[in-house]
Amino acid sequence: MSDPASAAPTQDELKALVGRAALDYVVRGEIVGVGTGSTVNKFIEALATIRNEIKGAVSSSVASTERLRALGIEVFDSNAVDELAVYIDGADEIDGRGHMIKGGGAALTREKIVAAQSRRFVCIADASKRVEVLGAFPLPVEIIPMAARRLMRQFAALGGLAQVREKDGLPLVTDNGQHILDVTGLKIADPLAFESEVNQWPGVVTVGVFAHQKAQVCLLATPEGVQTLRYD
Ligand code: 5RP
Repeated sequence: MSDPASAAPTQDELKALVGRAALDYVVRGEIVGVGTGSTVNKFIEALATIRNEIKGAVSSSVASTERLRALGIEVFDSNAVDELAVYIDGADEIDGRGHMIKGGGAALTREKIVAAQSRRFVCIADASKRVEVLGAFPLPVEIIPMAARRLMRQFAALGGLAQVREKDGLPLVTDNGQHILDVTGLKIADPLAFESEVNQWPGVVTVGVFAHQKAQVCLLATPEGVQTLRYD
């Protein structure tokens, strides 16, 4: 519901708006890559309205898979599909070149895998996600648990403070059986170099900077409507 005093759309309404707008990028007759998160959940609801026009989806998380199946959309294993025309996913931050921070929902590894097998990444986000420099949002990094302490020291050497993400008082376990570090205090001026560097630290499964798998399009929901930003 909109706030009657201002009539400004709520964040939930903005997410629904951009979720519906993403349908324009879904190639009919094909399999679509589907991300994870509250904005993607709105996209999945919209996708269900055209489920008879697509073959199905490749999903980036157990949570999205369950939602897709509950709405009657077939979910394919990523290994059963060579290439996807489009991957649609949210972001925690996106800069002016389509580089993103992702992983707020702990699904970053599978998100990067599905993004890598897609010709085009369409990011759906509300305007609060658009930043000049990545790093205000804590950077998620999926890690092998036995490397946690050393990786925390490596981030400290870069000026970052890394903490193991918890759920119900215990380290959160990802869909891949690993843990997440959330790193605050970083300013990621060169996302391509940063992603390459951190990805080769032993024990890192995936760093939540998406620069090599950047967005080609961002559909940004604003109170004035959906803005289309292109980064080709
Ligand atoms: C999940 C993600 C999400 O895309 C990101 O956290 C944005 O989520 P939301 O749409 O709920 O704000 O990377 O791992």
